[in-house]
Amino acid sequence: MDCKQPRIISLPKIYDPRGNLTFVQDNDQIPFNIARVYWTYDVPAGETRGAHSHYKSEELIVATGGSFNVNLFDGESWETYTLNRPFEGLYVPPGYWRTLDNFSSGSVCLVMTSTPYSEDDYERDYEKFKRLATKRHE
Ligand code: TYD
Repeated sequence: MDCKQPRIISLPKIYDPRGNLTFVQDNDQIPFNIARVYWTYDVPAGETRGAHSHYKSEELIVATGGSFNVNLFDGESWETYTLNRPFEGLYVPPGYWRTLDNFSSGSVCLVMTSTPYSEDDYERDYEKFKRLATKRHE
């Protein structure tokens, strides 16, 4: 499978009666080296996050607690992924507009990314994203 396609990646799950454990190490499980990790939490009911695309950054998004939806748009069609398992991650390559919504109470959205934070890597203008994506699809 083309590694630059969005997809759910199953992560190792160490079953244990004391509680389960999942890990990500270097790029053994995911197709990039992790440069940064961030997480969002205390998201009020009904709120939407995201609403941008990245030029270079690759991401793995994990619902480490609770559930939420990630809606991906490649310029032609939308696909919604419901994340609710701490042992699965959604791989998002560059060039996808994403919104995150439907956060359950107490949910935590953990994101591993391939680049340090840089506002230059963001496209936050939806109309500009659509123009660039249309060119890409031509
Ligand atoms: P933003 O990109 O709007 O969050 P999201 O799109 O995931 O809902 O980021 C919110 C603020 O946090 C914005 O001012 C940029 C800042 N920020 C950092 O300083 N470092 C980071 O790694 C991230 C992801 C955001």
